Amino acid sequence: MNDNALEQLSDRLGGIAYGGDYNPEQWPREVWEEDVRLMREAGVNLVTVGVFSWAFLEPSPGTYEFGLLDEVMDLLHANGIAVDLATATASPPPWFSLRHPEALPVTADGVRLTHGSRQTFCPSSPAYAEAAGRLTERIVERYRDHPALVLWHLHNEWGNHNAHCFCDISAEAFRDWLRQRYGGLDGLNEAWGTAFWSQRYGDWAEVMPPRATAAVANPTQQLDHWRFSSDALLGLHRREAEIVRRLSPGVPLTTNLLVTLEKKVDGFAFAEECDFVSVDQYLTAADPEAHIGLSLDADLARGMGGGAPWLLMEHSTSAVNWQPRNVAKTPGQMRRNSLAHVARGADGVLYFQWRQSRAGAEKWHSAMLPHGGTDTKTWREVTALGRDLKALAEVRGARVVSDVALLFDWNAWWALEMDATPSRDLRYLDLVRAWYEALWSLGVTCDLVHPGSDLSGYRLVLVPSLSLTSDADAAALNGFVADGGHAAVGFFSGVVDEHDHVRLGGHPGAYRDMLGIRVDEFFPLRESETVRLSDGSRASLWTELVEPRGAETVLSFAADPSCGGPVPGHPAVTRHGHGDGVSWYVATRPEADALRGLLARVCREAGVTAAAEVPAGVEAVRRRGPDATYLFLINHSPRDVSVPAAGTDLLSGATADGGVVVRAGDVAVIREHGAPPAGR
Ligand code: GLA
Repeated sequence: MNDNALEQLSDRLGGIAYGGDYNPEQWPREVWEEDVRLMREAGVNLVTVGVFSWAFLEPSPGTYEFGLLDEVMDLLHANGIAVDLATATASPPPWFSLRHPEALPVTADGVRLTHGSRQTFCPSSPAYAEAAGRLTERIVERYRDHPALVLWHLHNEWGNHNAHCFCDISAEAFRDWLRQRYGGLDGLNEAWGTAFWSQRYGDWAEVMPPRATAAVANPTQQLDHWRFSSDALLGLHRREAEIVRRLSPGVPLTTNLLVTLEKKVDGFAFAEECDFVSVDQYLTAADPEAHIGLSLDADLARGMGGGAPWLLMEHSTSAVNWQPRNVAKTPGQMRRNSLAHVARGADGVLYFQWRQSRAGAEKWHSAMLPHGGTDTKTWREVTALGRDLKALAEVRGARVVSDVALLFDWNAWWALEMDATPSRDLRYLDLVRAWYEALWSLGVTCDLVHPGSDLSGYRLVLVPSLSLTSDADAAALNGFVADGGHAAVGFFSGVVDEHDHVRLGGHPGAYRDMLGIRVDEFFPLRESETVRLSDGSRASLWTELVEPRGAETVLSFAADPSCGGPVPGHPAVTRHGHGDGVSWYVATRPEADALRGLLARVCREAGVTAAAEVPAGVEAVRRRGPDATYLFLINHSPRDVSVPAAGTDLLSGATADGGVVVRAGDVAVIREHGAPPAGR
């Protein structure tokens, strides 16, 4: 990470970056003139070029044709539009797979995929690595001094479609990775627990990726394969990064990470290998409160970059085309979505894509310039947003500072959703989202951070779900509480170590002492079953037999066996003073209101406050710059609301002396008067 890279980029652009993926190869030359004219009209200042251009740039092996890209780069520069130039390695052309059939990926069932879509390559293929490396070198050498170039865009969404390959080449690479990790077979046998089901390995040749097998595949083998696959892609990323840094020092590089869209690669590991974080975020149409999922992703993007501003590399102006039902955005929704990212630290707002395609797999995916041209709702909103972002230029670089960390970990995500756990209803993102949503509705901002991060700057650490945790990460949380921090931990956290071996002596082994409890046995609930708690609220999904060992019981499962579930009268929520701090344990999934009430109490005790007192459905986040603070107020509700605030609304120009009215569906960004408020 390079803390200044994004700041320098946005200084060069003179404000917040605005634009999207630009794919001129899909259009005749005369359309390009219209493109740049309309980009200027919309206030576009940055476009991503060349993401899927490999077949144009290298039409046959070793033959490079840069005429098209030269023209595009010059045209953009002449029109004052900067370029985030891709290494173009995301979609090898058909000639590549005919030449290197062994580089095509193989599924766990043994099916070899073929070209005809994108990302059809095996991440461990030396042929792919070499071809991608050669292409990267040629592109970087040619454009490193081009005046339009401001950023290198490595690959595209590493591993989105091809993270896991089970071919023989991958099997060999997996063995190498395991040798590095465990040294010898003894270490591997121990870590994988191969004494179970007669799986002991006596020769490296016997060790395989978790290909289709008769019963449940070894969980640690599966877990290591997730890790290996993420690392294999990271190796390709590093290879491209090395070329870019060697040939084009001084121009920053990034790659568009998937936040929670996919669980395939460890986002934290990739973030470290970029100059700054950039992410792609798409709403889940089936989620009635998808804007809360958006905020979660944005807070994860910020957490991946250690709190620094980041770039929203892709989102959509309206519908996508890859969900079962692709719901279009209602008027004003795109603006709220885009500005919510800015509120949470984005210094750039880019879309997939500039001009909606006529042909191909994504022709029904929205874009900045729709099929209908400029006389459309989307285009009018795109040009209006361009004006809004200009008005927000001074916000760039300002930081969102949070008192709360929510621990997020891809390893724990992989481990929780393995086969043969106590309940298949344990879905990582659902568990995280429930806690996040409670906090969101309290107006409290949190950073989603890796469990191994420095927690010392936070007042409160939330652990909605972390079944797998390493000894070091567990010690960090225990130390944080002992030193005076507050923490709240969700059920089935801290139960296994990094090899997915159970921590013995009563659950949750990693946090037992810190929490002052011991869990004797899990009692997951049946699908749709609910239980009542001692305060009359309801809970679902999970119960367990908790024995207090120093902790006080805050709530219990109802004593009446007809509604108290499998462990009536036993603790459901506990609180424990540990060292100088306080730790809470939540042994079930409380309904939304109850969880919000509980976390409100946890926040109060920890001294955590909301960014502003806001009515339901209104999002409030504060960014702090060196000279001013900016309070973003986003009204997702159908009602006009009044929020206490004093300052100038950068979007409307209006001043507010004590209260600001934010109309239904509208957004205000208040440059606050006076000393920055104490609340986050
Ligand atoms: C991803 C890809 C883009 C495009 C969009 C569509 O984010 O990076 O190329 O396919 O999805 O939503």
